[in-house]
Amino acid sequence: MIITENLEFRYYEGSNEEVLDNINLKIEKGEFVAVLGHNGSGKSTLAKHFNAILLPSGGKVYVGGMDTLDESLLYEIRQMTGMVFQNPDNQLVATIVEEDVAFAPENLGVPSQEIRKIVDWALETVGMSEYKRHAPHLLSGGQKQRVAIAGVLAMKPKCIVLDEPTAMLDPIGRKEVIATLSKLNREENITIVLITHNMDEAVCADRVIVMNTGSIIMDGTPKQVFSRVDEIKSLGLDVPQVAELMHELRKEGFDAPSDVLTIEEGYKAIKSMLERNVQ
Ligand SMILES: Nc1ncnc2c1ncn2[C@@H]1O[C@H](COP(=O)(O)OP(=O)(O)OP(=O)(O)O)[C@@H](O)[C@H]1O
Ligand SMILES: [Mg+2]
Repeated sequence: MIITENLEFRYYEGSNEEVLDNINLKIEKGEFVAVLGHNGSGKSTLAKHFNAILLPSGGKVYVGGMDTLDESLLYEIRQMTGMVFQNPDNQLVATIVEEDVAFAPENLGVPSQEIRKIVDWALETVGMSEYKRHAPHLLSGGQKQRVAIAGVLAMKPKCIVLDEPTAMLDPIGRKEVIATLSKLNREENITIVLITHNMDEAVCADRVIVMNTGSIIMDGTPKQVFSRVDEIKSLGLDVPQVAELMHELRKEGFDAPSDVLTIEEGYKAIKSMLERNVQ
C-alpha cells in the first residue's frame, strides 16, 4: 500500500537538518499500523508524505504503486489515501453533517444519486446516520471526528492516515474513534495508519512503529515493541499501564510475563501468579 525507499526530508532547501533520515518502510494493504514517537520525532512529516502533502527531498514514496513525485498522479494518490487531523473543527466545512460528508464527492462531480448512496454508507459505517441532519458544531468531539472520517470515506480511499485524531477528545470520544478505525480496518479492509501518543490506542494496532529523531527505531507487533519497556522509556515514551505494572513486578522478582498489554490479560497473569504462588 505504502512504500518508502531511503526517504529523506528537509523543510528548507540547503538545510542540513534531516527531519526524515533514510526511512525504509513497507505498509501492506489491510494493515493497522500505529506510529509512536516523542514530539518533533517526525511522525507528522512522515504521514504527510503518504498522500503527497509533502514530497521527498531524497528517496521515494510509493502509494499504491504510484510515485508521489509524479505530479500527474497527485489526484489519484489523494483519493487513495485520506488524511484526518487532530482538530475536527478545522476539518468540517458544511453546516449540516450529510452535506459535509458529501463535500468531496460533490467536488469530484459524482452524480447526485450516487452521492446519496456514498454519504449514507459513510455515515452508517462510522455510526453517525442518526445525526445526518444535525449541525456539526453541536456534536461531541468524538462524533465530529467520526463525521470527519466519514468525509474521508466518501472518497472511497484504500488507506486512511490519522494524525493524533483523538488528542482533543475525552475518553469516550477516543474510544468511539478507535472502535470506528478497528471496524473500518476489519470490515472494509481499509489500511489504517494511526499516529498517537496514547499507548493503549497503539495496542489496538497490528503493528507499532516507533520514531526517534527522524528515523524508525522499532517496528513490530504491540507485544514485541512494548516488551522493551526500558528502551521505550529511555525515548521519553510510556508503555501501556498494564505492561508497566508487569515490568515493575518483574523488577521485584515476580515471574510476570512481558507480553501482557490489556487489563484482561493483566488480570489473568496476576491471577495465575497468585494461584502458582510464585515469587
Ligand atoms: N513546517 C515546518 N517547517 C520547518 N520545520 C518543521 C515544520 N514542521 C515541522 N518541522 C520540524 O520537523 C521536525 C519534525 O516535526 P513533526 O511535526 O513531523 O514531528 P511530530 O513527531 O509529528 O511531533 P508532534 O508529536 O509534536 O506532533 C521538528 O523538528 C519540527 O520542528
Ligand atoms: Mg505531529
